[in-house]
Amino acid sequence: MTLNELKISLTDCQKCRLSSGRTQVVFGVGNPDADIMFVGEGPGYYEDKQGEPFVGAAGKLLTELLESVGLSRQEIYIANVVKCRPPNNRDPQADEIETCQPFLLEQIKLINPKLVCSLGNFATQTLLGQKIGITKVRGRTFQRPDFTLFPLLHPAAALHQGNLRVPLKEDFQKLKNVLDKMKNPPDPSNSSDLAGLKANESQAEADTQPQQMDLF
Ligand code: URA
Repeated sequence: MTLNELKISLTDCQKCRLSSGRTQVVFGVGNPDADIMFVGEGPGYYEDKQGEPFVGAAGKLLTELLESVGLSRQEIYIANVVKCRPPNNRDPQADEIETCQPFLLEQIKLINPKLVCSLGNFATQTLLGQKIGITKVRGRTFQRPDFTLFPLLHPAAALHQGNLRVPLKEDFQKLKNVLDKMKNPPDPSNSSDLAGLKANESQAEADTQPQQMDLF
């Protein structure tokens, strides 16, 4: 199946109650061959109307933050955990997430990114397979079987709680370091790089722990 075939297969999806309130399914947008993918929670009012993720106020902030680390919306891929707008922008419910999760996982498999950036609790918990708060895991990398997961605060959270703006910017600065390392991987023959690699390895060991939990 191609990404476009998956998208078309979901056009009339009626698998959960969110189908009754939506204008349209908001599948995802961006480069189908992206190395970097962002996953949010679910469409809001403007996303539901326009059929594209992150086009409202949180989207504007996301675009600014992406640009601050040298990323454009065209080069990445952006999707959500649930593809239909929850009524009045309420949180997606566990059974709605469970119903939509196979489509997100298939989407990730077809795009095959190196790095998946989960925005906020719902995307992070869905992709980590563990019910853990975003504040405990933000700004760290987690090795999943097919990609590296990098959880960040959700831009909408920073719009609602001004005190989260600085931590959100910090998450993006840490993301910049991860992107730089992706572009220029450390050289093990260089002794100072080797020290960094060893430090990374012990962090990587710690960060595989949540994998032992279920969902995958
Ligand atoms: N918040 C999300 O999580 N996703 C969107 O598409 C818009 C806002």
